[in-house]
Amino acid sequence: MDYSIVSLSLDKLQSDCLLVGIYENQQLSPVATAVDTLCEGLLTKLIARGDIKGKNAETLLINNVPHENFQRIILVGFGESGKVTRKLYRKALAAAIKVVKESKVSVATSALLDINVENVDTQWLTRQNIEVFNDAIYLYSKTKVCEEMPALQQLYIYADKLVSSQAELGLLQGKAIAKGVELTKQLADLPGNICTPTYLAEQAIELATQHEKLKCEILEESDLQALGMGAFLSVSRGSRQPAKLISLFYQGAEASVKPIVLIGKGLTFDAGGISLKPGLGMDEMKYDMCGGASVLGLIRMATLLNLKLNIVGLVPSSENLPDGDANKPGDIVTSMSGKTIEILNTDAEGRLLLCDTLTYAKKFNPEVVIDMATLTGACIVALGRVPSGLFGNDDALCEELLTAGEVACDKVWRMPIWEEYQDQIKSNFADLANIGGPDGGSITAACFLSRFAEDFRWVHLDIAGTAWRTGAAKGATGRPVPLVSQFLLNRA
Ligand code: BES
Ligand code: MN
Ligand code: ZN
Repeated sequence: MDYSIVSLSLDKLQSDCLLVGIYENQQLSPVATAVDTLCEGLLTKLIARGDIKGKNAETLLINNVPHENFQRIILVGFGESGKVTRKLYRKALAAAIKVVKESKVSVATSALLDINVENVDTQWLTRQNIEVFNDAIYLYSKTKVCEEMPALQQLYIYADKLVSSQAELGLLQGKAIAKGVELTKQLADLPGNICTPTYLAEQAIELATQHEKLKCEILEESDLQALGMGAFLSVSRGSRQPAKLISLFYQGAEASVKPIVLIGKGLTFDAGGISLKPGLGMDEMKYDMCGGASVLGLIRMATLLNLKLNIVGLVPSSENLPDGDANKPGDIVTSMSGKTIEILNTDAEGRLLLCDTLTYAKKFNPEVVIDMATLTGACIVALGRVPSGLFGNDDALCEELLTAGEVACDKVWRMPIWEEYQDQIKSNFADLANIGGPDGGSITAACFLSRFAEDFRWVHLDIAGTAWRTGAAKGATGRPVPLVSQFLLNRA
């Protein structure tokens, strides 16, 4: 799929399929009004006939347009004028792309940058067109023949000359974020027997060949042993696939600039280990590497934009399976930090990988550390599947992510990691227990991580409810790539 900006005057514009906007009081957007004039009042006529009201996400496909420049026009409803929020804008775009897909055109032109959306600029509007379109045309094809390949090949975004430079900037950002999301979804949707820790490592190596400022390093189990990562290794002992600690180093700024460290949980399959999960829906635990896939997606985004930042991406990757050599409830392991951990439930494995990776992150002298993990089912109980859970040890950093989430429409909701909860992860036999009982499970998981993140500013994103969709539309979402991309763009 190709995206570009067109800034011709409207009477010169040609399109197989032109998208224009309408508000709820049947008021056409400025571009739509001009198109209406070019088409001798066709749009006004259809509105008068009551074919479209302009409600948000309402659409009207006009297949036969009496103007040689336009083959089709799609009127897209945005809802009440002056009240179009970011979310409503995206919702209308998603409805529009559905009609574009159904109409099977190969080239479409979105003239929807003139919609009045609260608190945004042309750059944001352009970005959203690309992000929403690219998300909608994503197709999983690795292990399944697609009967119907999507026809759409090219999206032009019509921008008035006055705003075309802003639109060009939005185009670059939108393309980079969309590519990052796409990579994340592709990796995440792969089954566990293809996407193993070794496969993920190979993908990271491949990614690093595509950009001169990007380097990749893979640590093998023997390296992890030498580093003393006893918590991480205890999980991989139960699997026949060798564990990997994938490191990606993107140097977009001076070497002296402290890096942003991104950590992603990379469990390529989580059966729970000896504390085996119930069978129903267990296939979805192939998605337990979505945090790791997001790190790869974000690094890709950063390289495509040549962001002036230093970023270290760390993906601890393993499987969690039951085996004669697997962790057993009650086992005690020693983490890289020296803290001992009593494993009361082998299914709380993510934190065992992450704690050693957090300790390892210290060596990069990070500006901030952001971890992304499908860490707890309890996070879904607490927040549902709308926001990701946000936990952190620095209020300003948490605020930064909350704001980025609003702008990117990839929301997070802050959860507490107060001292009071730490009691729940006390152990009689080790420095820490790896579970804190049934109450506040996503919080006690974050409390556990916080004990390994005391030396830097850190946030943890629990993406258990947001990284993939369950049910009939099962598939990866690419979240939190848009959120963290926005954070990185703000920092660059
Ligand atoms: N990967 C899971 C968390 C998860 C479960 C994410 C369901 C999305 C959907 C994690 O490793 C896990 O199993 N967590 C346990 C923790 C418990 C044993 C304290 C959980 O959430 O049940
Ligand atoms: Mn688990
Ligand atoms: Zn897990």
